[in-house]
Amino acid sequence: MPAAKIYYDNDADLALLKDKTIAFVGFGNQGAAQAQNLRDSGIPNDKIIIANKEDHYAEDAKSKQFHVEHDFGKATKDADVVFLLIPDQVQPRVFNDLVAPTLKSTAAVVVASGYNVFYKLLNVPASNDVVMVAPRMIGSSVRSLYEKQQGFPCFVSVEQDGTGNALPIALALSRAIGATKAGAIASSAREETAMDLFAEQALWPNIIKLFQEAFHVLKEAGCSDEALCYEMWMSKEPAEIFERAAEEGFIWQLKHHSTVSQYGQLKGASKLDGTAIRAHFNDILHNQVLNGKFCKEFTAIEDALEKEGDENPLNALYKEAEESEMGAAEKRVRENLKLTQH
Ligand code: NAI
Repeated sequence: MPAAKIYYDNDADLALLKDKTIAFVGFGNQGAAQAQNLRDSGIPNDKIIIANKEDHYAEDAKSKQFHVEHDFGKATKDADVVFLLIPDQVQPRVFNDLVAPTLKSTAAVVVASGYNVFYKLLNVPASNDVVMVAPRMIGSSVRSLYEKQQGFPCFVSVEQDGTGNALPIALALSRAIGATKAGAIASSAREETAMDLFAEQALWPNIIKLFQEAFHVLKEAGCSDEALCYEMWMSKEPAEIFERAAEEGFIWQLKHHSTVSQYGQLKGASKLDGTAIRAHFNDILHNQVLNGKFCKEFTAIEDALEKEGDENPLNALYKEAEESEMGAAEKRVRENLKLTQH
C-alpha cells in the first residue's frame, strides 16, 4: 500500500462554506465540539442549526447561543450540510425516518464514524454527497486542541460523490472543525470500521482475557489480590507505557524500563509464536467484522440494550465480567481501599 495522503489547511478552501446552512444532528461529545469549532472558524451563527431532541444536550447548545430546533426534519430541510453526530446505533432510525424525507437533493451528509455507511444502514439518495470526517479524539479534546490552535488526528473520505464536489466540501468542513491543522488522513468508511471494530472485537477482548488469565496464574502462585491489582493496572503503569508508546514509539518506550525488564519483554515477545493469534485475528476481521456478521448480531439486540436488568445483554455481560475471579477480587480490593466503584 502506498502512504496515505494527508490533507492540510492549504488543501482546504473555507470559502466553499460561505452562505451554506449547516445542521448538526446531535450536540453531544462530538456535536458540541465540532459545532463550536466550526463557528469559531467564521461560519456565522445564523447559518448553523442544532437539531436535538429536548434534553440536556439541547439546553447546553442553547446556553452556548446556538439556534436549536427539536423537529429534525424542520431543522435539516434547508441544510446544505448535515453532520450526523448522534450515537451510531440511533443514526439509521433518525436519519432514514426524520431527515432523509425532506433532505435537499444536493446536501452533504457528514458522518464521524464509518459504521453506518460501510454497513449501508443509511438511505441516502444518490444525488447527495456522503463524506466521513472522523476525529480520532474524544469531543473534549477536539474542542481543547482547536482552542490551543493545534489540530487533532482525523480521517477523511468521500463515500458518495453525488454533486461531484464532495471532496472539496469534506476538506473545507475538516478545516472548519480544526482537523486539517495537524493533517487529516485520507481513509475510508471501510478502513475506519475495520480498524475500529477489530480493536474492539479482537485486540481488546484478548487484552481483557490476558489480564484475567495472568491474574489467575499469579493468584494461584500465592500473590494477593491487593498486590495484583496494583501491580497489573491500579498503579497506572500500563497507562504510562501506552502514553510513552504514543509519544516515543511502541518499542522505544522500553528504554525507560530496567535492563532486566527490557531483556525479558523483547526476548519473551520474540519467542512467542503468533500463528494461532494471527489466525484468530483474521477470523474476527473477515468472518465477523468485514462480512457484516457482527453488525447483524448487534442490530438484532439493539432494542434490548434499552432494557433494565438481566434482559439487557450488556448488563448480563457486565455481570459475568464482574463475577469473574479478577472482577470479584478487584471489587473487594476497591471496597477495602475505599476507591471509586461503579
Ligand atoms: P453522544 O453519545 O455524545 O451523542 C449525544 C447526542 O445524541 C445528543 O445530542 C443526544 O440528544 C443525541 N441522541 C441520543 N440518543 C438519541 C436518540 N435516540 N434520538 C435522537 N438523538 C439522540 O455521541 P458521540 O459520542 O458524540 O458520537 C457521535 C458520532 O461521533 C458517532 O458516529 C461516533 O461514532 C462518532 N465519534 C465519537 C467519538 C467520541 O469521542 N465519542 C470519537 C470519534 C467519532
